[in-house]
Amino acid sequence: MRPRLQRMPPYVFEDWIMSASSAAPHSAAYFGEERDYWWNDDYLELLARRLRLDQVARLADIGCGIGHWCGLLARHVPADAQIIGIDRDATNVAGARARFARLWPDRPARFAEGDALALPLGDGTVDLATCQTLLIHLAEPERAIAELMRVTRPGGQVVAVEPNNLFNRIAVSSLTPETPLDERITEVTAALRLVEGRRRQGLGCEYLGDLLPGLFARAGLEDIRVWVADCALPFVPPYAAPEQQAQLAAHARWQAEGSGPYDRAVFAADLAAGSADEAEIERSWQMMLASAAAADQAITDRRYHAAGGGLFYIVVGRVPERPIR
Ligand SMILES: C[S@@+](CC[C@H](N)C(=O)[O-])C[C@H]1O[C@@H](n2cnc3c(N)ncnc32)[C@H](O)[C@@H]1O
Repeated sequence: MRPRLQRMPPYVFEDWIMSASSAAPHSAAYFGEERDYWWNDDYLELLARRLRLDQVARLADIGCGIGHWCGLLARHVPADAQIIGIDRDATNVAGARARFARLWPDRPARFAEGDALALPLGDGTVDLATCQTLLIHLAEPERAIAELMRVTRPGGQVVAVEPNNLFNRIAVSSLTPETPLDERITEVTAALRLVEGRRRQGLGCEYLGDLLPGLFARAGLEDIRVWVADCALPFVPPYAAPEQQAQLAAHARWQAEGSGPYDRAVFAADLAAGSADEAEIERSWQMMLASAAAADQAITDRRYHAAGGGLFYIVVGRVPERPIR
């Protein structure tokens, strides 16, 4: 039996699914328009001012997926700025190219396959290198940060947008106060074991957002600044707002397609790697089935509500003017 998704902030439920198996391709079906609701327009304007995007002539979006992040940033760079998108997945690259051309038919852009750990870009060739929910998926994010720095010119900026999904996994909803405390403790423990188990298996670090400023400093980036994105996605009956409809549609899509974390074998492997024994794995699995069913029922009954906030960091560093060595 495959449980339905629990309600969590979108950074979690999308990225949890997408990172379920590093071997599984990131289906284009995971990249729905719900990703555009991760940002408020006025916040992006503020961010654009802080990052002085109006002065960026070349911007690279690494692990671009189908281009949601660079598609948003394109609004804020000069019309003749070159946008470069790199992703290791050929289907995503094609999707990004098509999507960007649809959104910005007259803008210079180039999308290419490439590995974040060995970018197909020359040294110092962009003014700003960025990524959104890429580094949390990597076993060695430090190597990707070094590459982001290498391709950015001296004085240019590296901008990483990454969540702390461990924090986001224990988000509160209207069901929280009515859930017995012991079940909540099991839930939180399972989340900790799962996140740690995935990290130990080399599947990425879900709480990387909190570690990034330190990693940036260690890599030699300067003038490090850290902000938190202000966008919440409240889930309030009758769930009529477009972003809520998009979330429900995404939920249905993932449900139909199936996903790794909701496969008991994957769940068990992740928890076992997080030092859970078989009895605890089974208890956690049953609890997850029950709480997912309760969330579904509460949504059907229009009883479910949540503020939908999440911890989503924007971490910025400047590449030193002098060579780092
Ligand atoms: C969670 S998705 C984020 C996509 C996009 N940045 C967005 O926010 O919509 C992660 C993306 O990183 C890509 N990716 C994962 N590991 C990569 C690597 N080593 N090099 C390049 N791309 C990678 C995946 O193919 C996927 O498209």
